[in-house]
This record gives sequence, C-alpha cells and structure tokens, in this order.
Amino acid sequence: LIHAAAEVIASHVVGAVQSRGRATIALSGGSTPEGVYRLLGSDPLRSRIPWEKVDIFFGDERCVPPENPQSNFGMVLGALLKHIAIPLQNIHRIEGERVPSMAARDYEENIRTAFHSGASTPPRFDVILLGLGVDGHTASLFPGTPALSEYQKLVTDVYVGKLMAHRITVTFPLINNARHVLFLVSGENKTAILHEVFQGDALRYPAQHVRPVAGELRWLVDQAAASQLTTMPKQ
Ligand code: 6PG
Repeated sequence: LIHAAAEVIASHVVGAVQSRGRATIALSGGSTPEGVYRLLGSDPLRSRIPWEKVDIFFGDERCVPPENPQSNFGMVLGALLKHIAIPLQNIHRIEGERVPSMAARDYEENIRTAFHSGASTPPRFDVILLGLGVDGHTASLFPGTPALSEYQKLVTDVYVGKLMAHRITVTFPLINNARHVLFLVSGENKTAILHEVFQGDALRYPAQHVRPVAGELRWLVDQAAASQLTTMPKQ
C-alpha cells in the first residue's frame, strides 16, 4: 500500500509539473502516511520529483508547536522535508503554535496567495492526500463539529471535544475542488469504518462528504482494512 501510494503521488506530481509547470499537494497527518513520505524522500522516487516546482501544503494540523510529537508538520519534516532539496518558500506550514483562529486565517491567506486566487472559486490542488479516522473523520473534519458545515472558508479552526484539542483543517470546498483526492487507509482497525463509509447508506460520516466536483477520488486501502468490503463503493 505504502509503495503504491508513493508511486501514485509521484506520478500525479510529475504529471502536474509537465502539464502546468508546477504541482501543489496537501499532505495528511497521522501515522499511516509516514511511510509514504519516507519513500518520497528517498531514491528512486526522490530524484524523480522536481521538488523546486512543488508546493507542499498540509490538510490539517494539531494546534501544537512543530517540535511536539503530535505535530503533523514535525512528522513530515522528519520523514520527507529534511531529505529533499525543496526551497523553503515551497513549504506552507500551518502554524500550530499560534492562536488557532489566527493561524487558520493566515494559512488560508497563504493558500490563496500561492494560487494567486481571489475570493471566487476555491484553489484547485493537484493532489490532496487524506486519511480516515475510525470515527469517519478525515483531515480534522470530525463528526459533530461546525467545521463540517463550513462552506465559505477554505481553512477553519475547530475544537474537537473528544480529543480536548484544537485543530486547524481545510474544509470540504477546498478538498472537493482538487484534481486528485487520495484516501490512504490501512489496518484492521479501519475495517469497520471503511465498510460503513463505502456501503453505509446515508452520508453519515465526514469522509463521505469528500466528493470531488471535477476531480478523481481514489481509495488506496490494504487487505486488512478492505476485508469487509463486498462491493465497490456507492460514489
Ligand atoms: C491527523 C490526520 C487525520 C488522520 C486520521 C487517520 O491530523 O491525524 O490528518 O485525519 O488522517 O486520523 O490517522 P491514522 O493514519 O493515524 O490512522
């Protein structure tokens, strides 16, 4: 799964640079993607990607400083960023150490500036990588939070009661405007939620609201996570 995901991401990034001269990717946090980032940060994939033409963003962040073990940026820094020749200005960090609402506002501004986009349609990322929580959250769009109904802002801060923690997350309008949305799901602890998300009826879980308007939605899952799937998803 990790190798497949790294290859898919690398091919989309290289393709974007070939077609449009640049590539924009938003990385997910958590534990699953770390192995993917390590592959992208080591040869052969590392040297296939023109990092100076890639802008790296984050789909979400925990509201902690980068050196905190919880930090998604800290994880990506160690697994990928330290190992590639990428200009600093191409790394768009969510400032988890700041007041959440201010960091969210400034991150949205950072995105809009990088895409030279006004307040009209949301910027169109080439790749947005997402994970799936056992409660059906993705990025930091958690069940029962106001972030799920945020359709004006591209980025919002949210207090997640069950974690007793603030998070900063991209919103559905940004995710759903991407060219390629990739879910990466691994492990038997995700078997039940993956079955629910793919074969449950109503749009009960945040992950089910990821429906690219004009892009590709691809699920990269391993045998363990997929063991209860009997049919292809109703998308
Ligand atoms: C985060 C992620 C989050 C993650 C899921 C799955 O900040 O934690 O963005 O959405 O993708 O919680 O996490 P695991 O890969 O650790 O299961």
